[in-house]
Formats: sequence, structure tokens, C-alpha cells
Amino acid sequence: MTARTGRPGFLTVENLRAGYRAGRVLHGVGLTVAEGEICAILGPNGAGKTSLLRALCGMIRTEGTLRFDGADLPRRRPEAVARMGVAHVPEGRGTFAPLTVEENLRLGAYTRRDRAGVRDDLERTYGYFPVLKERRGQAAGSLSGGEQQMVAIGRALMARPRLVLLDEPSLGLAPLVTRDLFRIVRAINEEKRTTVMLVEQNAHLTLEFAHRAHVLETGRIVLSGTAEEIRADERTARAYLGIGV
Ligand SMILES: Nc1ncnc2c1ncn2[C@@H]1O[C@H](COP(=O)(O)OP(=O)(O)OP(=O)(O)O)[C@@H](O)[C@H]1O
Ligand SMILES: [Mg+2]
Repeated sequence: MTARTGRPGFLTVENLRAGYRAGRVLHGVGLTVAEGEICAILGPNGAGKTSLLRALCGMIRTEGTLRFDGADLPRRRPEAVARMGVAHVPEGRGTFAPLTVEENLRLGAYTRRDRAGVRDDLERTYGYFPVLKERRGQAAGSLSGGEQQMVAIGRALMARPRLVLLDEPSLGLAPLVTRDLFRIVRAINEEKRTTVMLVEQNAHLTLEFAHRAHVLETGRIVLSGTAEEIRADERTARAYLGIGV
């Protein structure tokens, strides 16, 4: 896809260093995301993709610059980051298994007071994911993997986010299901201009849907460009992504 013009630097990350008690895993990451863009973060297991999302949403210790829509992102305060309009769909989905589909979706809107708006967004979410409407009263834990991923994304949308961080939504899903899910992510991106950061290992499919991509390897960005540039540069893509894209 061609990158559309959006405000550049909607999200700005400079010299980001972050990690855990056991040690640093991000060693000076820099990238910018324009408003309305789907930005892919690609890279092998253990590269630091999940840690990058955790750093953005204030879940782990960070040093460096993290700016979102002209303001510093709060450090170590995930709720404050969420209030700024950043929604995180973590690895492994994190749906509440005993709660129904609709209860899970409503949890995404728990800080909102505009009941009519929440009702509208619930219908909009069911519009994107009609199967969830059919199963609105069913326990989330009894859904298929793909359906649970829909609940997780739907719950994030219920917060009316301006930036959605998706951590490997394709995990455990069949390629066709993943493709359908990515189509919906793109529809959400296009209709609401919601900016998306999409962490994935499946470079081939992801580059069909993303505008730009950054390749992360052992905590450093080793390649950045538009999806076309990265796809066109087959030699580097093969070297960094381990596949022909
Ligand atoms: N909670 C944690 N405590 C300590 N180290 C961690 C923790 N989570 C991740 N790490 C380490 O940080 C490094 C990066 O992990 P991360 O989960 O960010 O990688 P990833 O790119 O998301 O990998 P994958 O594709 O397997 O999900 C790894 O070496 C990992 O062992
Ligand atoms: Mg991960």
C-alpha cells in the first residue's frame, strides 16, 4: 500500500532503551509513525517487538524519547497512556475467558461516560466482526482463536483509540483467517484514520497491508522503509527476514 499523507511524527521514538531486571533488550530504537498509517514492526523471535510495545504503553522501564501527538508519553503508567488514546492488544490476546463477548467488549470502554457513544461503537465493532454479534452472549473462552483475536481487537476499539498497538494478531491463526483479520484492521484504519502499529513475524502477508515497516533485530532497527521498498529490496529482506518477500 502507498503511504498516505498524514501528520508526520504522530508517534516519535528516539534512542529508546528499555528492558527488564535481567537486562536491557532495546538498544537505541528510533522510528516515527505518521497519523493514519499502518506501521509494521517485523523481526524474529526475541528481537524485542513485544518489548517495544510494552515500552510505548508504559509497562516497562524506558530511557529515551517517546512522544505521541505532541506530548511525552507517560512512563510506567499504562492507564495514563491508555487515556491518551493508545490501545494495546497484547500478545496472547488477554480476553477474559469466563466473561461473555459483549462483557469483554464493554470492558474496553470502561473509562467512558458517553453511553450513547459506547452503544454506537459496540454496533460499529459488531459491524466489523458480525460473528461476534452472533456470539455476544457466549463466554469468550469458548470462541475459536480467530474469534478471540477479534474480541481483543474489538475491545481495543471500544476505547476509541487514536493509536492501536497490535502484538502478533496472527499467532495461531490459519493464513486465510489472518488475511481476513488484516483486511478488517485496514478497514478500521481507513474509515477512522486510526493509526496502527502491527507487530508480526509473517513479513510477507504483513507487507501487503502495512504502509511502512521497520525490521527489529536484537533490539535495534536494522531496516526501515515503505512496504514497497522493503518488498522490492529482496536481498536485504531475505537477509533480515529470512524469507523471500
Ligand atoms: N518479562 C520479561 N523479563 C525478562 N526478560 C524478558 C521479558 N520479556 C521478554 N524478555 C526478553 O526480552 C527479549 C525480547 O523479547 P520480546 O518478547 O520483546 O521479543 P519478541 O520480538 O516479541 O519475540 P517473539 O516474536 O518471540 O514474540 C528476549 O530476549 C526475552 O527473553
Ligand atoms: Mg513478541
